[in-house]
Amino acid sequence: MRQLPCGGEGAKSGPHLNDLIGRPAASLEGFSYSDGMLEAAEAGVVWDLETLSKFITKPRSVVNGSNMAFTGLRSPEDVANVIAYIASFSTPPGQ
Ligand code: HEM
Repeated sequence: MRQLPCGGEGAKSGPHLNDLIGRPAASLEGFSYSDGMLEAAEAGVVWDLETLSKFITKPRSVVNGSNMAFTGLRSPEDVANVIAYIASFSTPPGQ
């Protein structure tokens, strides 16, 4: 399965979003996360559908001090479409 870079095709600054659904925050080895994302991980943030929806709507409501250059999406429909797209890069359970 090809990799989905955070920030879209060609973006280099973020972690990949493959198998993101259910993944603990800041758990990719070798990626240099910000202190804000590491604190979110220590607080137990896991990218389940509800948390991801909140994060995509308003990243700062889930992670304080992230260095992700993205301020969020307003339309719930856009948020749902982005989550559906990201989920298509997750390996289906049992595979
Ligand atoms: C719909 C748009 C986006 C979504 C859904 C998204 C999603 C995410 C998620 C879930 C993480 C945490 C990953 C983890 O814990 O391993 C993350 C981190 C990050 N993303 Fe994005 N992202 C988006 C747009 C962008 C854009 C436009 C950029 C930059 C051009 C970007 C750069 C980053 C960076 C640098 C991090 C690491 C943040 C940190 O350590 O504080 N993202 N993104």
